[in-house]
Amino acid sequence: MIQKQIKAAIRDIPDFPKPGIIFKDITPILKDAALCENIVNAFIEELGDTRIDAVAGVESRGFLFGLTLATKLGVPFIPVRKAGKLPHTVKQKVYELEYGTATIELHTDAFKPGAHILIHDDLLATGGTVMATSELIKDMGGVIAGFSFVVGLGFLKGREKISPICDKVIILAN
Ligand code: PRP
Ligand code: MG
Repeated sequence: MIQKQIKAAIRDIPDFPKPGIIFKDITPILKDAALCENIVNAFIEELGDTRIDAVAGVESRGFLFGLTLATKLGVPFIPVRKAGKLPHTVKQKVYELEYGTATIELHTDAFKPGAHILIHDDLLATGGTVMATSELIKDMGGVIAGFSFVVGLGFLKGREKISPICDKVIILAN
């Protein structure tokens, strides 16, 4: 049901941002308040009684549902940001992209060691971004409680990459 609604709302944009890539545009979802609410409720239902002490959302599209989800769960939201954006003391992780590298950062006081963190992003592609996020969180003493995504590109095998870290992988539409 939710999968159908999400798939119907997502807009495929061919050759964006580069030729050969079909971009999954989630902005039509954001225009539908009822669907946004259903998405957050679906995450909460799938999480069940999983212990979540904080939700870490990945810049930038992981902020969209990440904060709403954290707020509804009644836990802190932690922004995982691209390099140079967080103002306080940070810890960073450099990770490989198809061409070159990317860097993500977290505030060193983002959470206390032992906290159970749900990693959230809008979309799971290769899994490289959330993999790096999970490594950074673990390096800082956090426990990965799960991963949540609105959309997954199944053919890129991201789930297979991240499920050894934590088998709680929620993908609402594949
Ligand atoms: C997209 C998407 C995920 C990531 C998925 O973000 O929002 O964060 O790529 O790719 P992966 O699973 O292969 O790592 P993007 O880097 O385009 O940035 P944005 O969220 O700021 O638009
Ligand atoms: Mg992103």
